[in-house]
Amino acid sequence: VRVFVPRDTTALAMGADEVADRLVAEADARGIEIALTRNGSRGLAWLEPLVEIETDAGRMAYGPVSVGDVAGLLDAGLLEGNTEHPLAHGPTEAIPYLARQQRLTFSRIGVTDPLSIADYLALDGFRGLETALTLEPQAIVDEVKTSGLRGRGGAAFPTGIKWQTVHDAPSDQKYIVCNADEGDSGTFADRLAMECDPYMLIEGMAIAGLAVGATQGYIYLRSEYPLAHRILDEAIERAEQAGYLGADIRGSGRRFDLEVRLGAGAYICGEETSLLESLEGKRGMVRYKPPLPAIEGLFGRPTVVNNVLSLAAVPYILDRGGEAYADYGMGRSRGTLALQLAGNVKRGGLVELAFGTSLRELMEDFGGGTFTERPLRAVQVGGPLCAYLPESQWDLPLDYETFAGVGAGVGHGGVVMFDDSVDMAEQARFSMEFCAVESCGKCTPCRIGSTRGVEVIDRILANQDRDANLELLDELCETMEDGSLCAMGGMTPFPVKSVMTHFPDDLQR
Ligand code: NAI
Ligand code: SF4
Repeated sequence: VRVFVPRDTTALAMGADEVADRLVAEADARGIEIALTRNGSRGLAWLEPLVEIETDAGRMAYGPVSVGDVAGLLDAGLLEGNTEHPLAHGPTEAIPYLARQQRLTFSRIGVTDPLSIADYLALDGFRGLETALTLEPQAIVDEVKTSGLRGRGGAAFPTGIKWQTVHDAPSDQKYIVCNADEGDSGTFADRLAMECDPYMLIEGMAIAGLAVGATQGYIYLRSEYPLAHRILDEAIERAEQAGYLGADIRGSGRRFDLEVRLGAGAYICGEETSLLESLEGKRGMVRYKPPLPAIEGLFGRPTVVNNVLSLAAVPYILDRGGEAYADYGMGRSRGTLALQLAGNVKRGGLVELAFGTSLRELMEDFGGGTFTERPLRAVQVGGPLCAYLPESQWDLPLDYETFAGVGAGVGHGGVVMFDDSVDMAEQARFSMEFCAVESCGKCTPCRIGSTRGVEVIDRILANQDRDANLELLDELCETMEDGSLCAMGGMTPFPVKSVMTHFPDDLQR
């Protein structure tokens, strides 16, 4: 019997290793032979550890399974795929949370053993790279332009145009840098992609290298992801051995080498220029732009800096064609968005959908409301630099332009939910405090402004000159927004202002 027990960080945190060991021991005691595969996660965090059994009718899901459940599940016929058990969910792919998604990028997660190249190839792996090897660099760039893919790290800059800039920049050495410093609150999609389908990122980076003429790639990975680090290192080695990386990719004579570099825990190193400084071995301070990294990036050379999810979308685009990807989405937001449901939510996890879904659908239909079962009050989409949205905005379609139009952001797709016990004044204060802690210190509006921001909010909450201090906070936000060098100081006002606009009563004490 083939049994799957995930081993991504979430499943492991929920005891997946112990469950796997107990399954083997219990099956052994019953004289049943099982073939255990440690797959990646399906991204249904609320069901982890999600054990699957292969049957003639497909894979059957059971979860969340604890060590104590294992013997009972075996007694109830788990290994025969019996679905008569409170932890049984029937065929995994029919679970509504999964069945209702449009998984283009995350189609393989949880299905495969992340390190198995055979598994990857069986599900269309490396087909995008094989196609890219038959194309001229400009044709690869054109395909990405056709797809309409925009930077999934948060800024939504058209990926194809960024690649074009690097393609056109003359240099004997260019680089592909993957920003895997996933720092936004509530986000975990980069981690899932790296832990559960690492060859997808490797393939995307190799294609980027072929497109712009770069022969060296670096994955700048946050040190808080030690499992992703081990998996990526192992996957890179295996991809080299199989000829998908290295000096002569698939006998084409084209070269692409790849290495992982670890960050040291600074949020600001997710900003592309401080990331490059850090990669060069320096302190992670933001650089002035221009020059853009696309012109003068790593070690002063033309560099593509893309988020994990932007690069991970590329194999699909090269395999199926840019138009197939662009068929999904709305307006100028093409393709799919990897939303990450977190915070006070009943069913947290990864939800990949075409742009255009509403937050309400996401939080209620997928998320199942709050974990505490109290009414939802606010949601922060896009990380600590983006707005808190009140209920009046939950029916807006999720796309870059619509959200920007109401002073909010889609960012990296993190969705952090709060129930009605939340104190929004505390959230506004936290935004300023976070900026004060994480500021690189290069420019005054951010370095000084964020500390003054905490003080002003404290005075408002202590009812000291309320009106004057509210006005001061408004002016401070304007100064930070207009005068900061990067998004850290420049966007911190967004969550603060959203509290002032949509939750003003919380600023009364
Ligand atoms: P940006 O708008 O300055 O730049 C976006 C990207 O486009 C950069 O890579 C830039 O170099 C490139 N670019 C701009 N013009 C170009 C041109 N003509 N040719 C080629 N490339 C060009 O935004 P930035 O500061 O890079 O990112 C801000 C965003 O980061 C925010 O929207 C925020 O949501 C997001 N963010 C994401 C986090 C995460 O953990 N994923 C954490 C913090 C912020
Ligand atoms: Fe550094 Fe803040 Fe200025 Fe960005 S806005 S450069 S983080 S001081």
